[in-house]
Amino acid sequence: MAKAIYYSSVDIGTNKICSILVRIGPEGELKVLGAGITPSQGVHKGVVENVAETREAIAASLDESQRYAGSGVVRGVFATISGSHINSVNTKADPGEGAEPGGLSAMTLRNLIEAEFPGFDRSQQMLHVIPYGYDVDGLSGVRDPAALKAGEFQLETHVVLGDDQAVQNSVKAVRNGKTTVNSLVTQSIASAEATLTGDERQMGVILVDIGAGTTDISIYLHGQPWYSGVLPVGGIQMTRDLAVGLRVPYYIAEEIKIKWGHVMPEMVGAGEEVAVPGFQGQPPRLVRRRGVCQPLTQRMIEIIKLVMLRVNQAGLRRLPIGGIVFTGGGAEIEGLKEMVDNALGGPVRIATPSQVAGLPSQLRKPAYSASVGALLWGIKHGSERRRYDDRGKSSTEGPRSLFRRFSKPREEAVG
Ligand SMILES: Nc1ncnc2c1ncn2[C@@H]1O[C@H](COP(=O)(O)OP(=O)(O)OP(=O)(O)O)[C@@H](O)[C@H]1O
Ligand SMILES: [Mg+2]
Repeated sequence: MAKAIYYSSVDIGTNKICSILVRIGPEGELKVLGAGITPSQGVHKGVVENVAETREAIAASLDESQRYAGSGVVRGVFATISGSHINSVNTKADPGEGAEPGGLSAMTLRNLIEAEFPGFDRSQQMLHVIPYGYDVDGLSGVRDPAALKAGEFQLETHVVLGDDQAVQNSVKAVRNGKTTVNSLVTQSIASAEATLTGDERQMGVILVDIGAGTTDISIYLHGQPWYSGVLPVGGIQMTRDLAVGLRVPYYIAEEIKIKWGHVMPEMVGAGEEVAVPGFQGQPPRLVRRRGVCQPLTQRMIEIIKLVMLRVNQAGLRRLPIGGIVFTGGGAEIEGLKEMVDNALGGPVRIATPSQVAGLPSQLRKPAYSASVGALLWGIKHGSERRRYDDRGKSSTEGPRSLFRRFSKPREEAVG
């Protein structure tokens, strides 16, 4: 009889760490066994800066998620990574090139990326190597070149890169006596796994995860990731702006933002007032809610502009047919959908993790998209284990198994 398999993920956010443990039964049924959510420590704008502090928070979160499942159920976890050091490049190459039959060697890939991406050097690691199609005689995105009578064809690959030091810090923060890293998953791809529908991926879509310290962007075209990047801005900046505007401490501004924040002030009643709690001996006071919304709106407009600039720089001139999907805790602010609808047109939706049946209500919120998505990614790509050494260096850079599906068609098939 087939045995149950356990998977565990840990999302390393700027605001919170979230670990999830699931069991896949013999019939393929998925059951969430536990979740552990702890405040984050040592993470700045999505990057692990204080390894010891982050390790402590991660261990607490993983322990909590495994509490009801017996300890030691899962050693290898799928952990997320973010930060503005993450970027991506799309490459094309003859699938026959390199040492591996039907695939590309890590060396070939590195050479290709160096040629297309001048900033790429030894200080970066490849986090994802995702084949998305063939270029057949200049025609891009072909999924089945065997069906064409073609001569020249090249494998097209989306490669996500991350700063070596940042990658090592993330691995070190997860690793302890009980836990190892199966693979790192970039938060933009993780969030997409949990939120995007198959139709959206096919039509083309921009996924934007607005967290506390970062805004993670991924663009999907023809069903595959085509761009991945991270902006070092998020909900923290919004709260800071509000704290300055209201002349209150950060924690009061955060409370007011979550309760009364809105990024379409015209949708808020002109006479509506908000109570600002007293602090340091000052009495509580009333302020206009529209005034509260002003700095939040301005900051959100700036974030959206930065996102669209990235999208343009990536080479996309128009909104894809699938539009924009927002997720992450920052996407919970009222008025976001209406604001982006007005500014850009096209479909806009705010997404919660939707690809898992029976997800506990606690996790059915935009802030947990990357947490749930890292798990889904792990289940889908479970066999592609990376090995990280004690210093957090990955031993295998281009997971070969990914290429099997796309290996060069046999001569007779091409005709
Ligand atoms: N209702 C709300 N309105 C406005 N902002 C909100 C709301 N709920 C949560 N947020 C903001 O969302 C942010 C936290 O989001 P999230 O949990 O996705 O961040 P994170 O994953 O820890 O960080 P990151 O992904 O940036 O490293 C905080 O800045 C918080 O203020
Ligand atoms: Mg996040």
